[in-house]
Amino acid sequence: MIPWELLDSAQVPESGKELRLYQRGGEFSIRVDGRELMNSRAHGSEDALAELACLTIAHRPCPRVLIGGLGMGYTTAAALHRLGADGQVVVAELVPAVVAWNRGPLADLAVRPLQDARVTVREADVARILQAEQRAYDAVLLDVDNGPAGLTWKGNDWLYARAGLEAAYAALRTAGVLAVWSASPDRAFARRLRRAGFEVTEISVRARGPRGGGRHIIWLAIRMS
Ligand SMILES: C[S@@+](CC[C@H](N)C(=O)[O-])C[C@H]1O[C@@H](n2cnc3c(N)ncnc32)[C@H](O)[C@@H]1O
Repeated sequence: MIPWELLDSAQVPESGKELRLYQRGGEFSIRVDGRELMNSRAHGSEDALAELACLTIAHRPCPRVLIGGLGMGYTTAAALHRLGADGQVVVAELVPAVVAWNRGPLADLAVRPLQDARVTVREADVARILQAEQRAYDAVLLDVDNGPAGLTWKGNDWLYARAGLEAAYAALRTAGVLAVWSASPDRAFARRLRRAGFEVTEISVRARGPRGGGRHIIWLAIRMS
């Protein structure tokens, strides 16, 4: 068994937490406080997050998609694959080192999505972008924790509470979609989405896509008006 090698580490702003990037052969892992946030061996559900959300909006003229956060770039690459030449993807990443890792050791995992001219990277908390922009996006994709609870840092709890969901609603255009990734079901979160005004579908997806693996959840929440 090849041992894990620590490649780099970086502070999560304002949290006292640390993100660590590990490599074992061709496999990479990003961890926070010893818990895995993302592993390069299984990205079927991260791909599905973008594929399912973009299905409903890719046909629109100049569709705009906001993705939080970057991780290993799989969701970003899947969104680019679904969108046409006039699509735009804004990627919000809280930890600047993650962006550097995607331009360095992780670059080839998702085939360098940051080099695509349709992508703008913002080294920022996705919450700040949601608070600042209204009717700006056709889709907002959230995969910043392992589900609707702050794991990367406690401040992410805001995203999944009423205020954050209302901000996401306001940031979407009519019939826009908020898509949220989770490792497991969460009935209370689905209820909060509905209370915020969204029409909600909960979809079970496989961690390794067509190759199976564990089951993850994606909520597709549509802004109806
Ligand atoms: C689970 S990974 C994302 C995996 C990604 N979907 C992929 O395809 O590789 C979570 C990422 O979100 C970032 N993140 C956490 N909280 C954030 C926030 N509030 N705003 C922006 N990025 C955030 C983390 O630094 C990490 O890069």
